[in-house]
Amino acid sequence: MRAEWYKDRVFYQIWPRSFCDGNGDGIGDLYGVYGKLDYLKSLGVGGIWFSPLYPSPNADYGYDISDYCAIHPDYGDLEIFKKVVERAHELDIKIVMDLVVNHTSDEHEWFQKSRDKDSPYRGYYFWKKGKKPGRPPNNWDSFFENEAWSYDERSGEYYLHLFHRKQVDLNMDNPAVRGEIKRILRFWLDLGVDGFREDVITLISKPEGLPDDRFGVGVKGMRLYESGPHIHEYLQEFRTEVLDGYDCFVVGEAPLMTTKKALGYLEGEHPDLDMMFSFQHMEADCFFTEYMPLPFDLRKLKRAFTKWQDALEWNALYLENHDHPRVISRYGSEKYHDESGKMLAACYLLLKGTPFVYQGQEIGMTNIALPSIEDYKDCMALKHYYNDVRRKSPDKVLPKIQKATRDNSRTPVQWSAEAHAGFSSAEPWFAVNGNYRSINVAAQEKDPGSLLNFYRALIAFRSGSRTVRFGDYRELCPGHPHLYVYTRSFEGETLLVLCSFTEKPCRFSLPDGPAWGAPELLFANYPCKSGETAFTTRPYETRVYRVRADR
Ligand code: GLC
Ligand code: CA
Repeated sequence: MRAEWYKDRVFYQIWPRSFCDGNGDGIGDLYGVYGKLDYLKSLGVGGIWFSPLYPSPNADYGYDISDYCAIHPDYGDLEIFKKVVERAHELDIKIVMDLVVNHTSDEHEWFQKSRDKDSPYRGYYFWKKGKKPGRPPNNWDSFFENEAWSYDERSGEYYLHLFHRKQVDLNMDNPAVRGEIKRILRFWLDLGVDGFREDVITLISKPEGLPDDRFGVGVKGMRLYESGPHIHEYLQEFRTEVLDGYDCFVVGEAPLMTTKKALGYLEGEHPDLDMMFSFQHMEADCFFTEYMPLPFDLRKLKRAFTKWQDALEWNALYLENHDHPRVISRYGSEKYHDESGKMLAACYLLLKGTPFVYQGQEIGMTNIALPSIEDYKDCMALKHYYNDVRRKSPDKVLPKIQKATRDNSRTPVQWSAEAHAGFSSAEPWFAVNGNYRSINVAAQEKDPGSLLNFYRALIAFRSGSRTVRFGDYRELCPGHPHLYVYTRSFEGETLLVLCSFTEKPCRFSLPDGPAWGAPELLFANYPCKSGETAFTTRPYETRVYRVRADR
């Protein structure tokens, strides 16, 4: 029997370095998390996904792990971790860990040992000779560097890294590596965690011989290892040998996934994964990544939502995480901050699936623009910046980085209008967004009409609604360039969600016909006249109606 409880909960993602500093050193930590568990409970959260808490040299802020079975000293230790789990469980909040096993840090003991050609760890990674002296073994690209290979003097060979050179790809074809992963899974499950978010899990199986990518469109190599040859076999092995023995679930991160391929992971008696983080809906204002910006096109967003809602029985729903700029600054409007924040909340929280709210999203944190490239930490931003300034002037390049960088979502959470936004008593490790004086949790707690309280109300509603849990999804007026409208229907009840993605006025009439008799307004981000069935939308307006067919 697979766990089903993950379908009834809203999850909250914590990126620990910037969530809350509990011991006054300017870095977020588990002491801070412990103190905020009641806050998360008050938000209606039923689970926490922790971005990596493990020891890491932070080349990619935790996604380069140097020890899988410990807590980074910046964040605390196993004792405080256990306390957090225990208290969370008392509050009926589940705990999900980030499993990052496509690669380890180059500072991991396995990699250090593997640099010796005779070590049993040599086969944990992909070590290869260059094609010719000075030329890497194949032509693959890296997401965070220019090439996917780095040369190690000591070994006299190259090693593979799809990401940063300090994130070395593990050789999943080696049974000993899979054995380590099963040990890691058991370690955390035995400590009481309830599931895993599996980092770039669909990329872990590499093609035999690591051939050149002869077509070479986009990220060279990716089409060869995305859903690679043994992916289903390996995921099944983790499921059968470990995960099936526990009441837990797994959500996989799946870049470049299609709905058709997704079914191969999610369908059948014994699926590889319970849910998937797909990316298509994050590309409504860019081509593949935020570094190739395009004007926002609502029709793209709607097509992506509808495609995934129609194709999959269950989706992992999100608009923000630690890898994307803040959504109000992208799909909403900083000018209509509260209005667009509420509209965006309604637009995805009532879809079919398990919603994830990213820290600070519930108060509408926005992007930040730092004055110099030296102020940025995100390795991906640095790669793009230094590549681009070879061809363009820095004052042309910086604005693009400011908009695209993952650092936008990594500024400290704005808890109050006090010093350092109430995040820490000391100078924080990273810049606080100057708008913390007006956008913060304490101010929104006091205001019944705040974005925070809107999230609370929607989350509470969704938890009690069988229609949101089970209802059929149907999109209305799919061709409309500014309005996203959908219904959810279950056992005689229909919910209608209307979202305007523009400040322009748009005419809208509720569908008529007998079933639409007397719509009841459940949520709105502006005052509304009662009984109105045709109206002109205000900037970023949202309304949620309930209609009972049996009336
Ligand atoms: C995932 C993570 C991202 C990280 C990358 C490499 O996409 O979410 O933060 O940089 O994998 O681990
Ligand atoms: Ca700290």
